[in-house]
Amino acid sequence: MTPVSCVVRYGFRGLFATLTLLAVSAVAPIAADAQTVSPFLQKPYLQLGDNPSLQKSERLQTLWQTIDEDSDWQVDIQAAGSSEWKRMATPISRRVAITGIEPHRVWKATLDGLKPGAPFTYRILKAGNPVFQATGVARKAANQPVRFVVFGDCGQDTPGQKAIAYQTMLTKPDFVFITGDIVYGSGRISEYRTKYFPIYNADESSPTIGAPLTRSIPFLSSPGNHDILNANFEKSPDTMAYFYYWSQPLNGPIGETGAPSTNTLTGPEENRKAFLAASGENYPRMANFSFDYGNAHWTILDANSYVDWTDSALRAWVEKDLEKAKKATWRFVAFHQPGFNSSYSHFAEQRMRLMSDIFEKGKVDIVFNGHVHNYQRSYPMRFKIYPSAYDESQKARRADGPIAGEWTLDKTFDGDRNAKPDGVLYIVTGAGGAGLYDPDQQRKPNTWQTFTYRFISEVHSLTAVDIDGKNLTLRQINSVGAEVDRFTIRK
Ligand SMILES: [Fe+2]
Repeated sequence: MTPVSCVVRYGFRGLFATLTLLAVSAVAPIAADAQTVSPFLQKPYLQLGDNPSLQKSERLQTLWQTIDEDSDWQVDIQAAGSSEWKRMATPISRRVAITGIEPHRVWKATLDGLKPGAPFTYRILKAGNPVFQATGVARKAANQPVRFVVFGDCGQDTPGQKAIAYQTMLTKPDFVFITGDIVYGSGRISEYRTKYFPIYNADESSPTIGAPLTRSIPFLSSPGNHDILNANFEKSPDTMAYFYYWSQPLNGPIGETGAPSTNTLTGPEENRKAFLAASGENYPRMANFSFDYGNAHWTILDANSYVDWTDSALRAWVEKDLEKAKKATWRFVAFHQPGFNSSYSHFAEQRMRLMSDIFEKGKVDIVFNGHVHNYQRSYPMRFKIYPSAYDESQKARRADGPIAGEWTLDKTFDGDRNAKPDGVLYIVTGAGGAGLYDPDQQRKPNTWQTFTYRFISEVHSLTAVDIDGKNLTLRQINSVGAEVDRFTIRK
């Protein structure tokens, strides 16, 4: 593709890019051609990369996308308060050449030597000329307060998605966690281009547009069914773009294509090969992983129906991961499909209840889910599974069916005066932008399961969590910024 065709195809966004570039020019001179043609298909965004553990000298990654050409890219960082730019290692690129999509590159650079919790500025240079600049904050250390935002089921290019992106910006989180269904309907490259990047990496902040979030705030995610379940490369050759565009830890238990508990890739061999070539080491490993942020440990699981969570090796990995994290003050687990859900929608899809005993034993504080497009908060709870749920004969049914058992609820926890929960809190926060599920149930508590304490389904919302040492406060904030739920946990 020539630069001219790039202007035609990305002309509207190019206009915004030009404005950004002119702003950068106050800092450093920019070549004339860079002021008129955006060098990006997608502007830079921050990722954690394969950095699961806290470091004394922190690292993040910045990724961006370009047309398929070799270019002389460089990345510099500048610590807050310093005037000195420090050159990073040369960026590397991954070529994505998929049927139906013009081949393009995903560039990746490591931002190294960051002081934990400290702000920094980074800039991208092409052929020696600065073409992009943004700020960020390094991952927080264990003794620093943290704020993060969680929501799921978002990338549908709706007014609700844009309003939640805007409210996320106002919340000023250190990072954002998406509990899956990042883009609808099949996690395609084409869908990321219209329903993800323009909203979460918009050049301006507005409730009707979105916000420049991802360039400054790392996003993490647990992929959902709309992201990675559809592996039909005949129907959607550009599906499962999660494995091209995200860069997250690769420390999970499932590392081989075709291994048990991975989905079956179907469609023409050349399409499947193209997917594997472009996703590289990310597939399938990046579906399950863990990481630390501040004084919390996060365990991220793939809850899609092809994963057998009765598999002893997989269960042992989760158990061990939580055991290794016992010194962390907080332990969170995130995955897409909830085990405990009161909505009519997806009600029978309960397979992740199979993991509740491990979460309880591992002293997990909160499980964050999506999939169900509303907000639900459980009582602190324990779940005792009926032995029949483990029967081999039930296995096929388990993939999408109910898991029988009984729960014990801590109804003395009020998240205020009594802020010490006995059990695990399950939060469904799937109201990030896609069409809301079962809005009528909000005012019908008699339709809720007895484990549900709060159910907000009339409005889109996000979950904002503040951690300061042994205190945690969770606020649920709706699409116009009003608080619709809140609780505190103290240790
Ligand atoms: Fe889903």
